[in-house]
Amino acid sequence: LPAGALAGRHVLVTAGPTHEPIDPVRYLANRSSGRQGYAIAAALAECGARVTLVSGPVDLPPPAGVAVTRVETAAQMLAACDAALPCDAAICAAAVADWHVAQRSERKMKKAAGSPPPVLTLLPNPDILARLSAPGPDRPALVVGFAAETHDVERHAAAKRAAKGCDWVVANDVRPETGIMGGTENEIVLITRDGAERWPRLDKQAVGRHLALRIAQYFSSDRSP
Ligand code: C5P
Repeated sequence: LPAGALAGRHVLVTAGPTHEPIDPVRYLANRSSGRQGYAIAAALAECGARVTLVSGPVDLPPPAGVAVTRVETAAQMLAACDAALPCDAAICAAAVADWHVAQRSERKMKKAAGSPPPVLTLLPNPDILARLSAPGPDRPALVVGFAAETHDVERHAAAKRAAKGCDWVVANDVRPETGIMGGTENEIVLITRDGAERWPRLDKQAVGRHLALRIAQYFSSDRSP
């Protein structure tokens, strides 16, 4: 990696799942490990960037030289991202929960004999990637989102790039037979304004370095994304 290639740049990275509380002891979550986002943050720091990593609950040590803000919910993740602005680039690798529980109970919900189980009403969470991509004075020069797809990876990822308003989409094929989800390797198609770049199958550390290198190239040229 080109040490110093991102010196003077501030990069925001989101990683991990979010936890959406039901009551003080229960929550909704997903299986994201945070591994890919942490690897990207580590590689960006190796390139000399100042990295703010906004992380949901994961079981990973903070990468060397990276400032980690730990959050639990999507609402907290959005607030932490807003607080980290301005930045030159934002990489949204987090698996943000799509919904939160409308009325979280301040007390542990009790199961009472004879009474029916509770019904949870869910409300949509803010889309952090779409918010960071929206035009405005704090809009980072480069905003990168992720797409997990099971078929037509390129077509769906290109549609996601347009829908979210981000510059690049890092797409991967999460069909179970690929072993990618929850695994240590990843096979990426990078969607940019110019089209699709297929990367070889790499471990998640190497994907992080590849992406950091691509970001360093972007900032060293005058090309827009
Ligand atoms: O909409 P979908 O979840 O498929 O999009 C995935 C991309 O959007 C990822 O980059 C993810 O980090 C980001 N995202 C987000 N906030 C959400 C949902 C998704 O930042 N509430």
